[in-house]
Amino acid sequence: MSNLKDTILFPSLLAADFLKIGSQLDDLFNSGINNLHFDVMDGHFVREISFGEGVLKTLSKDKRFNIDAHLMVTNPKEHIESFSGLGVKNITFHIETTDNPSELIELIHSYGIKAGVSIKPATSLESVLPFVSKADMILIMTVEPGLGGQSILPATIEKIKRLDEYVKTNLLNTKIQIDGGVTSENIKMLAESGAQYIVAGTAVFKGNITENVANIRKELNNASV
Ligand code: DX5
Ligand code: ZN
Repeated sequence: MSNLKDTILFPSLLAADFLKIGSQLDDLFNSGINNLHFDVMDGHFVREISFGEGVLKTLSKDKRFNIDAHLMVTNPKEHIESFSGLGVKNITFHIETTDNPSELIELIHSYGIKAGVSIKPATSLESVLPFVSKADMILIMTVEPGLGGQSILPATIEKIKRLDEYVKTNLLNTKIQIDGGVTSENIKMLAESGAQYIVAGTAVFKGNITENVANIRKELNNASV
């Protein structure tokens, strides 16, 4: 079982109210949040189109937050350089989009940025295992990527546990991130399964952000998510 106190929450901006983005960022910061998850969707790898370099350029002027970019795009290699220049701390690409994950991990590292590799629900855990020691983070999608507000796919929880086991057995420091369908009801179970970096959109932004973060924190017995 993981230490719940080490769990870090990554609010997903996809669920933000863009009419109130300034005050919502203040609410997050005042709740002790300093990481933001930035979902990039290209209308090709996933059906939706979200936001990209232009929005990130504006967002990166707010120096209070570390930005974690999740590239749901068919051609991540073509975006790594421009994202790296915009102050992101992590860049995660999908293993389904490349024949050479090591090359992309090295490219991200060459810009001094942490590299994440993500797998969709239908992609086997085995496909990512050769890259766990090279990457800083593995993102296990707990819903089909492309939309916020979905329910978690229970079969993905087994993957979190198996990856946790693999990381521990091999004495690695690679973080396990999960994304999709997190609620204040299931977050503790997910953290106990091995998820250390937890992305949450709806659970953070729907309703009152300050109360939502406080509830999540209570679930995790954690003063500093
Ligand atoms: C889905 C995105 C998620 C999304 C999660 O493809 O990668 O980051 O914002 O939203 P919730 O937490 O509402 O499921
Ligand atoms: Zn995401």
